[in-house]
Amino acid sequence: NFTPNAFVEEIVSELQEKIKDDKVVLGLSGGVDSTVAAVLLHKAIGKNLYCIFVNNGLLRKNEFDSVLDQYKDMGLNVKGVDASARFLKALANVEDPEAKRKAIGNAFIEVFDDEAHQLTDVVWLAQGTIYPDVIESISVNGPSATIKSHHNVGGLPDFMKLKIVEPLRMLFKDEVRRVGKTLGIDPELLGRHPFPGPGLAIRILGDITKEKVDILQEVDAIFINGLKEHGLYDKVWQAGAILLPVNSVGVMGDERTYEKVVALRAVESTDGMTADWVHLPYEFLMKISNEIINKVKGVNRVVYDISSKPPATIEWE
Ligand code: XMP
Repeated sequence: NFTPNAFVEEIVSELQEKIKDDKVVLGLSGGVDSTVAAVLLHKAIGKNLYCIFVNNGLLRKNEFDSVLDQYKDMGLNVKGVDASARFLKALANVEDPEAKRKAIGNAFIEVFDDEAHQLTDVVWLAQGTIYPDVIESISVNGPSATIKSHHNVGGLPDFMKLKIVEPLRMLFKDEVRRVGKTLGIDPELLGRHPFPGPGLAIRILGDITKEKVDILQEVDAIFINGLKEHGLYDKVWQAGAILLPVNSVGVMGDERTYEKVVALRAVESTDGMTADWVHLPYEFLMKISNEIINKVKGVNRVVYDISSKPPATIEWE
């Protein structure tokens, strides 16, 4: 019988006892887990918590700025680092999904290490690891996963020599959300769909360019805002758009077009291990498809993914 208030009280005094006057660094991802972990630590140790929020250039449209502002409004001591160019460079001509993940993981470690290095006397690395991550040792959300999966890379970066503190490691996702609510975190942030650490990179099939990222951000924003406007967002576990590496023929006026195809994906799930595609209303799909094709230059066809997991996966890569 989990009570968020009691948990907060207990963990805050536990963190204070453990960390004392030490400095702590934490990588924020914009997701629920790292945010709740940060707010808990901030409550416990205040300005001794140093947060780093990296823009990998593969987030949703406007997400870096809006989330960074939100973090500042929460009183967090956060540094936003725009490393988009570095990530794009690391991804140039990379087509294989696992190679993309590796390139992104390595770039993240480099950026985070550079930043952590500038902080002196840091003793702890905080992570938003939750219980399912502990048992599976893979995380659905953000930096913690990236860091862990690269533990055995030779020549450990400096920040990895830090002591680890994981205030959420005994909690399930719904408990993390309840703790977040108790802490007064914006319900919209707490209700966000899961978003993969490698971001849009694994939703752009084939090689990644800035132009493709821009197109996909526009398409994704129309889809996600549409879900919100039609009261469907909270009924869906995860949703997003995928940019396919094919062109298809279309017509515009009396002109023949030969442009990109995007797929929309929306799934119901409890933990991401299995998932069913959501039967979104045809009217909604029609409206969104028209809006995407009319507004996003370079896209002339929209398809809807009707595959469940298994045998498909939620992401296409
Ligand atoms: P799949 O595609 O495996 O996705 O059915 C299950 C859940 O995991 C997320 N996902 C990732 N999250 N790094 C992450 O942090 C990754 O490399 C990654 N790949 C998939 C996916 O968005 C879904 O929520």
